[in-house]
Amino acid sequence: MPDGLKSLAGKFIVFDGLDGCGKTTQMDRIEKKLSDINVPAVRVREPGSTPVGEHIRDLLLTSRGEGLHIRAEMLLYMASRAQLVYEEIKPALCKGITVLADRYTSSTLAYQGTAGGIPEQSILDVARAATENLWPDLTIILDVPLEVALKRIQPTRKGSTFQPGLFQDRIENRVAEFHQKVREGFLRQAQNFPDRYRVISAKGSRDDIEQAIEKTLIEFFAPDRNAPNS
Ligand code: TYD
Repeated sequence: MPDGLKSLAGKFIVFDGLDGCGKTTQMDRIEKKLSDINVPAVRVREPGSTPVGEHIRDLLLTSRGEGLHIRAEMLLYMASRAQLVYEEIKPALCKGITVLADRYTSSTLAYQGTAGGIPEQSILDVARAATENLWPDLTIILDVPLEVALKRIQPTRKGSTFQPGLFQDRIENRVAEFHQKVREGFLRQAQNFPDRYRVISAKGSRDDIEQAIEKTLIEFFAPDRNAPNS
């Protein structure tokens, strides 16, 4: 079965979803499987993964970025992405190395777009400029019900919309409402771009989710899938 994953060679694959959806565990597993079958792969995460990107991450996800306007926030995520595409993603793809990315433009569309209120078209325009129009071959959305995701979120980060000092119920409502919109944002993207997105339920056991991801990847990148007359 893992040999079927050989067709992932040289592809650009994004894993995305709500905070707490289990991306990291699943990406560890895929990375290991690719390594076992000698398919070279690099792993990146957003925001960050480059020296400049890590500074931007620090601004975005700590109290240093207190007071950032949502449009400034969106542009900083894109700036980190622009640097990542230039330094890591494009060079890897040019060498035929698979790129496994933890979040990409799909996150900006869901968090700053659907949940944050920035129009989708504005984000897509900025993304085009930031990435020189580089889109993933496939974006996998790991979809979890809100209750599951919220239980797993550590309420300590700016990126998780937690604001110390507010009355607890208000925080919980705000966080829930925000993440509900983020979830809807991811699902809407998948509906709008069925040829580039797959949604996988991430509420089962780790092993079940792993199997579902592997099956999806193998089917999506099956060598005969894009062949003429197939
Ligand atoms: P991170 O610590 O990487 O958590 P996770 O494991 O959930 O990815 O935090 C990244 C946070 O940044 C997460 O809350 C989502 C948010 N984010 C955006 O709001 N917009 C973006 O474009 C990206 C890439 C991330």
